[in-house]
Amino acid sequence: MQNRMPLVEAMLKYKNEKVYPFHTPGHKGGRGMEALLKNELGAGAVAMDVSLMSELDDIHAPSSYIMEAQNLAAQLYGSDRCFFAVNGTTGAIHAMLMAACKAGDKVLVPRNAHRSVAGALLLANLEPVFAMPEYDAVFGINTQITPQAVEAMFARHADIKAVLVTSPNYYGQAADLKAIAGIAHAHNAALLVDEAHGPHLGFSSKLPPSALQCGADACAQSTHKILGAMTQCSLLHVKGGRINLTRAAEAVSLLTTTSPNYLLMASIDAARYTLAVQGEKLIERALTAAEKLRKCLSKFAGLKLLEAECTGKNGIAGFDCTKVTVNTAAWGYSGTEAGDALRKAGIAVELTDAQSVLFLVTFADGGAEYDAVLEKISSVFADLEQHKRAPLKEQNCWKLPEFVTAVPLRSAFDAETESLPLKKAEGRICAEQVSFYPPGIPVLWPGELVTAEVIDYCLRMKKLGLPVSGPADYTLTELRVIK
Ligand SMILES: Cc1ncc(COP(=O)(O)O)c(C=O)c1O
Repeated sequence: MQNRMPLVEAMLKYKNEKVYPFHTPGHKGGRGMEALLKNELGAGAVAMDVSLMSELDDIHAPSSYIMEAQNLAAQLYGSDRCFFAVNGTTGAIHAMLMAACKAGDKVLVPRNAHRSVAGALLLANLEPVFAMPEYDAVFGINTQITPQAVEAMFARHADIKAVLVTSPNYYGQAADLKAIAGIAHAHNAALLVDEAHGPHLGFSSKLPPSALQCGADACAQSTHKILGAMTQCSLLHVKGGRINLTRAAEAVSLLTTTSPNYLLMASIDAARYTLAVQGEKLIERALTAAEKLRKCLSKFAGLKLLEAECTGKNGIAGFDCTKVTVNTAAWGYSGTEAGDALRKAGIAVELTDAQSVLFLVTFADGGAEYDAVLEKISSVFADLEQHKRAPLKEQNCWKLPEFVTAVPLRSAFDAETESLPLKKAEGRICAEQVSFYPPGIPVLWPGELVTAEVIDYCLRMKKLGLPVSGPADYTLTELRVIK
């Protein structure tokens, strides 16, 4: 059953029929596309860029190929319904919260949730109550919320309707989802998991269990981040019971373009197929590639690697070893500086932060090309080692400042605003979302008090050279606050 790609097969059949299109897309199978791009994409791909049509099924009322493809994904992962999401995990998270909650509901949100969660709460008009994650002072990572923190939040807010957890986090650290699911369910709340970084979990005993295996009611996964799908492609999985499946379908449909890209959807179908037929073997390949990288980096005295030993503390219940994080602080380099040195050598990493570089390893890595890249990485670090500086002092200062909510999120978003120089915004109420990307964790949400600590945090992030995302002023020289 899993041995098929219903949507890919249907699209290939349609392409091979060579139907003349008097319909969108306007480039008509590439005929009207700029030649440079068309050539780069390839005639096959542009011919398969077809528009929504009944012959190829409709994502808004799936009844044939898309329905089959989504059902196969649901079956593979163990959900009751799976929805293809073509606006990334951001779109899947928007739909997940809208499906699980009604306007005005309270949602427990980790302080280090991704910015897409702010968007979801705004769109669905929900009220966040924030739980602080634990903090790893060595790596400067805001890790996971603990079951105890979740329990404590229910003691303060018995009316929480859903608990959102980001697991695993960017660095591969998973929360104790089983325990958190038990607590949420005991309080009649749904567990929703932002599993953007975990679409491969559950397919190898060497990885932490998946959100669904731990009892989550829904999860949103970035198929494009870790598996073989194209950028933007994600999955929303829903379990029936606490979440109404019809409402979930309605939420997804409302938030989805009426012109979904079929190539994107086909790439989700294909990624599911690959995972189904070869998943365990491919994850083994990814783990082997990551282990090789760890070996290469562990030769260097002073570099610290984030290892599976991080589990059992800081709210971390499991670790995905395919995420290789190396801390360069002892050599006096920020992760951003080390990332720049790697980039000059032709290597681009997933994330850099104040102290570390994060290499994202997948089953795409391996073979002779990969071995040659490891050699290059080794020589970049040998060079950095030769030019070692005094260790970085600011080792312990990346704990996210606690939120001080002054105005409800939605009211703050809708309020009259004015722009002030960031440094003069202390004591005012923020009207916009401010994050640095990656990891896209907002330092400020609309409605939060702008404290001296928050301003200092933003200035230090800016100094690192991380691009800011969210505020109207992309340089964050000014901040929009409530008038
Ligand atoms: C934890 C987390 N959640 C959600 C997202 C959003 O995913 P997407 O970029 O697919 O919209 C990201 C993206 O970086 C993320 O890191």
